[in-house]
Amino acid sequence: MRKKILAGNWKMNHTGAAVQTVLTELVQTLPETEATLIIAPPFPYLAQAVSLTAHTPLHIAAQTMHWEEHGAFTGEVSPAMLVDIGVTHVLIGHSERREYNGETDRTVQQKVAAALQHGLTPIICCGETAQQRQAGRTDDLLGTQLRMALATVRMADASRVIVAYEPIWAIGTGQTARVAQAQATCAFLRRQLAALYNSDIAATVPILYGGSMKADNAAALLAAADIDGGLIGGASLQAASFTAIIRAADTI
Ligand code: PGA
Repeated sequence: MRKKILAGNWKMNHTGAAVQTVLTELVQTLPETEATLIIAPPFPYLAQAVSLTAHTPLHIAAQTMHWEEHGAFTGEVSPAMLVDIGVTHVLIGHSERREYNGETDRTVQQKVAAALQHGLTPIICCGETAQQRQAGRTDDLLGTQLRMALATVRMADASRVIVAYEPIWAIGTGQTARVAQAQATCAFLRRQLAALYNSDIAATVPILYGGSMKADNAAALLAAADIDGGLIGGASLQAASFTAIIRAADTI
């Protein structure tokens, strides 16, 4: 069985004192769990977060990165820098990055390749808008997003990625996808992985659901056959709401 993964995406929230408080409380109250736990704080606090969570089960992720190792890219952060400070995972292609920061399927592809090359685990985000779903374009769009993201990833590296399905209409809206809907889409993504690689790789790659996951809906979503974890925004900002999801995941 695939291990559950719970990843908290803090987005542009918390300054240093809150990072200290929330991570300290999280470390102190972390339930015993089989799940892999990841927190993605904003860039300025990554090193602080790595140090606060050293020797704990928590992994630290960046919310994005550039694909080049160094160079004239003002304002950017490279994969080598992330590895250097102890970051292990990186979100790639979150819909907010695609919408507000010009991230495209092509930049996602470059970033996924760079992450793998540097030993970082990419969490590849994909998702559709409400209009795209209504127009019946979800599978087509997600298929393209996934295929583009993985276009340069060889078979030998494919099992090192994590995929996150995040319907854009469910992010930060309190409107979670119905379990059957989220399951069907995650199953579709798994079939795409099988078509791109093979059924062993499809069975290995974790597929997370994201979009208004909370303690009260987490267990039902995480019990679905093809949902291997959650990418959690709002409910990961406080230790209590995140540990409640960890406990919910462990009831399955
Ligand atoms: P949300 O965010 O849980 O606040 O909906 C999820 C995400 O955008 O990763």
